[in-house]
Amino acid sequence: MTDTTTPVQDQPVLTRSAFGEDFAWGVATAAYQIEGAHDMADKGPSIWDVFTSRKGNVKQNHHGNFACDFFNCYPDDLLLMQSMGIPDFRFSLSWSRLLPNGIGQVSRHGIGHYERLIDNCLELGITPWVTLYHWDLPQALEKKGGWANRDIVDWFAEYTALCAHAFGDRVKHWMVLNEPMVFTGAGYFLGVHAPGRRGFGLFIPAVHHAVLCQAEGGRILKSIDASAEVGTTFSCSHIEPLRQREQDIRAARRVDALLNRLFLEPALGLGYPLDDLRFMRRIEKYIMPGDESKMAFDFDFIGIQNYTREVVKHSFWTPFLQANLVPAQKRGVPYTLMNWEVYPESIYHMLQQYSRYSGIKKLIVTENGAAFADELVDGQVHDQRRLDFLQRYLQQVLRAKQEGVKVDGYFVWSFLDNFEWAEGYTPRFGLVHVDYATQQRTVKNSGLWYRDFLSEKADSG
Ligand code: NOJ
Repeated sequence: MTDTTTPVQDQPVLTRSAFGEDFAWGVATAAYQIEGAHDMADKGPSIWDVFTSRKGNVKQNHHGNFACDFFNCYPDDLLLMQSMGIPDFRFSLSWSRLLPNGIGQVSRHGIGHYERLIDNCLELGITPWVTLYHWDLPQALEKKGGWANRDIVDWFAEYTALCAHAFGDRVKHWMVLNEPMVFTGAGYFLGVHAPGRRGFGLFIPAVHHAVLCQAEGGRILKSIDASAEVGTTFSCSHIEPLRQREQDIRAARRVDALLNRLFLEPALGLGYPLDDLRFMRRIEKYIMPGDESKMAFDFDFIGIQNYTREVVKHSFWTPFLQANLVPAQKRGVPYTLMNWEVYPESIYHMLQQYSRYSGIKKLIVTENGAAFADELVDGQVHDQRRLDFLQRYLQQVLRAKQEGVKVDGYFVWSFLDNFEWAEGYTPRFGLVHVDYATQQRTVKNSGLWYRDFLSEKADSG
């Protein structure tokens, strides 16, 4: 493990204007994590509704049935966002709100809801950045095999075309998929996310079909609105070998291929990184004639979502990858409530790593943030650690930008505290605290800092 911590004197001074005028500044959310209203206005069940209804799948059996009630509270939440001077808002559409059965019958209520949300954003001067798929597949489609069924390419095409036709006159920034590595890996291989499937059998085809949908979604959005800016997002972590030894270095390379390259490289026309991921070779049997070109799409931007780095050690005992991730606790480094190491340089390295692909036109940080056990005391949340985290990561984004990386936006995960998937509501990621019993919102100190930073009043960095 090498220490690449930037000395304080070498860190750039953090001001909004240092990032340039065209830089997008926002907050990010996702439908299932904030909307609640799980069975209102025609909505069909999604895989997360079903997964959370089964005991033992999520910590404390938490679920998103009510969440932050953003479905009903969005007018006030958008006013709060505007009062914080946040110009860009990333949210996702719930597929099963728009198409309760995944395909076929369209819900007028669903369309009307998102029209009002988008219109409200625009009236307040907030630019909507819309993610098509943030993990809540309609359960009706999961019953037919979900991501493991190649028909999903047609289902997803129908859904994408519907969204582009319904909202494309007002939405000019789209993201096709959110973190495909996570929803295929956690959902179809590890079984810790919906739909809770385990093993290779479904994971491998799910990967290939997600890659096809990623590109096909991009093509459809562009064909319906050539002026739209179309991107897609990837989870990514800077990977380092524990020791500078051949075996650890090779293990780190495999983990890098799996976590950082598996979905990106086929989109860039480079195919799957199978030389570094031999166990994925059976994906070849799902690749049909003509797929190579269908897997690629020339995205306007790539969204990078970075929280931490991973330190990797060779292990004989882990099948396939022959690598172990060494947890932050074992390394004695600072970490968040997700047990993720706080390592700001990771975002700098990932921006550099991705910018080395000539096929990437520009990068947007579509998520970055930290979870801590925040407490509301006398109407305030003193979340100093989140504030430090955001400043230090942003400094690294600026450092990359000043070195010539084309990074043009940054979205904090998240606007509100919300449902953190298998971890339930305990990890709080928001700039705004949510009291789930009363739906009361309180801007945390980090949110006040972000507001001041955006209005160039902040004293930071
Ligand atoms: C990744 C996901 O896109 C988002 O849904 C999640 O809550 C955050 N990162 C934090 O884990």
